[in-house]
Amino acid sequence: MATPANTAQPAHGHTAAILVASAAALGGFMFGYDTAVINGTVGALGSEFRISSVALGFVVSSALLGCAVGAWFAGPLADKFGRVRVMLIAAALFVVSAIGSALAFSAIDLTVWRVLGGLAVGAASVIAPAYIAEIAPAELRGRLGSLQQLAIVIGIFVALLVDYLIAAASGGAAEPAPWGGTAWRWMFASAAIPAALWGFIALQIPESPRYLVARHEENKARQVLRRFVGGDVDLRVREIARSLRSERPVRLSDLRGPRLGLRPIVWVGILLSVFQQFVGINVIFYYSSTLWQAVGFTEKDSLVITVITSVTNIVTTLVAIALVDRIGRKPLLLAGAAGMVISLGVLAYVFATAPLQGNPPEPVLGDVQGPIALIAANVFVFAFGASWGPVVWVLLGEMFSNRIRASALAVAAAAQWIANWLVSTTFPELADIGLGVAYGLYTAFSALAFVFVLKAVPETKGRELEDMENLTTGRGRSE
Ligand code: GLC
Repeated sequence: MATPANTAQPAHGHTAAILVASAAALGGFMFGYDTAVINGTVGALGSEFRISSVALGFVVSSALLGCAVGAWFAGPLADKFGRVRVMLIAAALFVVSAIGSALAFSAIDLTVWRVLGGLAVGAASVIAPAYIAEIAPAELRGRLGSLQQLAIVIGIFVALLVDYLIAAASGGAAEPAPWGGTAWRWMFASAAIPAALWGFIALQIPESPRYLVARHEENKARQVLRRFVGGDVDLRVREIARSLRSERPVRLSDLRGPRLGLRPIVWVGILLSVFQQFVGINVIFYYSSTLWQAVGFTEKDSLVITVITSVTNIVTTLVAIALVDRIGRKPLLLAGAAGMVISLGVLAYVFATAPLQGNPPEPVLGDVQGPIALIAANVFVFAFGASWGPVVWVLLGEMFSNRIRASALAVAAAAQWIANWLVSTTFPELADIGLGVAYGLYTAFSALAFVFVLKAVPETKGRELEDMENLTTGRGRSE
């Protein structure tokens, strides 16, 4: 069976693994960058293309549906053509989408380019965790997998910063930039630079050993394992081959299980993804400046708050990296869900009880409620960032057996993007009913998430990937 997880690894192997994982995690950077860069452009797009806020909301959220499609197809494509090739395709799509969006002449044209970029984001969200989990030694896997989230949150932060700098240099997103062209177009164009860099780096990294074994390229797999993982590479290749067992290519139909249409472990992946989004995290990242302005903060203060929140998110991911391989995935998810219930509960209470002002009446936070809401929002980001943010990506990368990993991950990630889209598009309507209602709902989902983890999520800390099949109760179907 699997080798002990704590077999000593050569130091150079670790360094190489960290380098490769960082390269792959650049896909995560693009994920964060591309989803966040649109924030700075939203105001300008409405006036440029003379479209209503509903149509604008569609332009913004359409990319998320593209992400779902990209995530869905990335798995089967990664099994067929390899992880690295899918990274190259995604990087190329990012570059094309960045340039196309920058040159867009109508809202529909822009939507098409954004959906194209969404396909790449979705693919990146699947490929990076799969590749990292496949190349990392077991005892480092949680930390390396968390690099994906670190890259996502740094991507979000850098995109917001670049938007801010371009807007500041031009006097606004709708204004001409001092070096020519309109500021918002440069915001979109800026994404081409990290995308091209990702493509270049992807050209330098090797295929994953598990993909190589699946393609019967055992010698190449041994070379990669020797360089990155160490230990008894022949044994590892045999184990990988055994866990791949089946000769036929993985298909989405392999995810089927005896009950509810899918293997139980696939449902666990889908629900982890859905809960990660239903706690409302992206409401903070996609709407925070308008949100804070709506409850009485100035535009400048709101921008500063948004930046502080994204820095909190980065710092807190470092906490998760320090803890994930030590205390395990499950305790972190439980503690994080508890922290989210409390912080979201406070937010819901503050917004529900804030005095209403203006016509139509809107809640406005006073001198006491304002700071309480700010602290609660940052505690929420902290609780999420130290747990559900990174740990869900780590688990999705490692919890499925080799044979179904790429496809199962694709299904779970697609579910995550659809859930993200649902939360992002319903938030404005929910906020109209009342911010207290919106946050109350996210509080309830956090509580459900806690119960779900307690009952259904297996601990994967320190286990070998080849061993993961034993976590699934969907075994035993004819293979
Ligand atoms: C996770 C989520 C992503 C979110 C990010 C924020 O990566 O999957 O949707 O934007 O965390 O930290």
